[in-house]
Amino acid sequence: MFAELPSITKRSFYTRRRCVIMFIIICCMAVFCVLKLQCTNRLDKFIIEFDSDSLRPDCRHFLHHTKHPTVRFLGPKEIITDRKELMKLQKAIPQQINFMHFNNHFRNPRYLCGIESAAKQNPNHKIIVHAKNETDFETQTQKWIQLLGDKIKDRLSFERLDWAPMFEDTPLQQWWADDLYKESKWVDQNLGNAYRLALLWKRGGIYLDSDIISINPLSGMGRSVAMQRGPRIMNNAYFSFPEQDLFVWDMMEEFVLGFNGSKWGNNGPRMVERTYNKYCANSNPEENVDECNGLGIADPPRFFPVPYSKRNQIALPWTSHCKLMKFLADESIGVHWFNKYYKTLGIPKNSVLGTLMQLHCPSVVEAFTPTGLGFVEDVGENTFPEEAKEWMGWEKDDGF
Ligand SMILES: *[C@@H]1O[C@H](CO)[C@@H](O)[C@H](O)[C@H]1NC(C)=O
Ligand SMILES: *[C@@H]1O[C@H](CO)[C@@H](O)[C@H](O)[C@H]1NC(C)=O
Repeated sequence: MFAELPSITKRSFYTRRRCVIMFIIICCMAVFCVLKLQCTNRLDKFIIEFDSDSLRPDCRHFLHHTKHPTVRFLGPKEIITDRKELMKLQKAIPQQINFMHFNNHFRNPRYLCGIESAAKQNPNHKIIVHAKNETDFETQTQKWIQLLGDKIKDRLSFERLDWAPMFEDTPLQQWWADDLYKESKWVDQNLGNAYRLALLWKRGGIYLDSDIISINPLSGMGRSVAMQRGPRIMNNAYFSFPEQDLFVWDMMEEFVLGFNGSKWGNNGPRMVERTYNKYCANSNPEENVDECNGLGIADPPRFFPVPYSKRNQIALPWTSHCKLMKFLADESIGVHWFNKYYKTLGIPKNSVLGTLMQLHCPSVVEAFTPTGLGFVEDVGENTFPEEAKEWMGWEKDDGF
């Protein structure tokens, strides 16, 4: 009878030890949650009007979407709800997003917002920055890279824009060799327009202009090109293709055939439009033309929710444009914000654009400071901050 005693004591000892271990685990979890909460709140510190209760419902909807990204996959025209369909679309496109930077030196930190936000929205994609001087780019952005955290840092890489090898074995090889690219006012843009085509032909994946802030994932977009509004034409600020896609080959041929270095847009957006009209506009879907079969045309809100003619809208206070904010959260993959227009303008920190930047690329804002990014206090105040003057207008013909 007494023999059982030690075993009872032993059992209660084990129970107590188990309790202590459980207690420690719970404490660790609590500390982790508090730290995580603080990290999340860090994003809000630049936003002045963050008092959620005083916001209109549509603005609250936007904010909620930003902090709790719904796993809601937009396709070129509709939401992809079928998981099998989504897997198919995901599998079809190599999981890499490419950006280009064709200045000798990195200056304008606003470009980084496109890169950071795309990395955040697409956690399984590699992010590749093709820069004219990739070592300079990496050196100048060290602070930002460190702030990104391992989850993004490990997927981020830099490559030199190396024209000749990229154009090799494509219709662009001869065009390059013949120096035809030099016959233009915008040499770098033309080279950049050509480069993204050769790159996607050879490796597949996504191309995005750096002045697109990603706010939803790309996975449902499949094989597609983007449509813009005002004017309603196709655009080459975004592409998504598997490697060796015939439509991309056709675009390279059309690029060379229709090249005119003195017409702005002719070798970019218009080139996509011409290719589409030539091969797809009048094709019978029943005929399964390889170039066009299944090619998605992304509706304007996907990447151009604000048309160029209304570009001033994104400099207005976000809290009085809640309908637009909700529209962006629900309908846009990325917001093209026209760096070419804004690069000599301050960005009001409470504006639509200022808010997008603060919430979707917090590490850029932290690394370069709000004033370093050219943020200004109020809408209407267009004095460019001293800290940002170094790069303001520095790139004359970068063409974004
Ligand atoms: C690249 O940038 C570095 C400075 O970061 C500079 O020393 C080098 O000359 C640049 N290279 C070219 C080809 O411009
Ligand atoms: C290129 O465009 C300019 C301006 O529109 C036009 O004058 C010129 O004839 C075009 N050149 C070619 C080769 O088509």
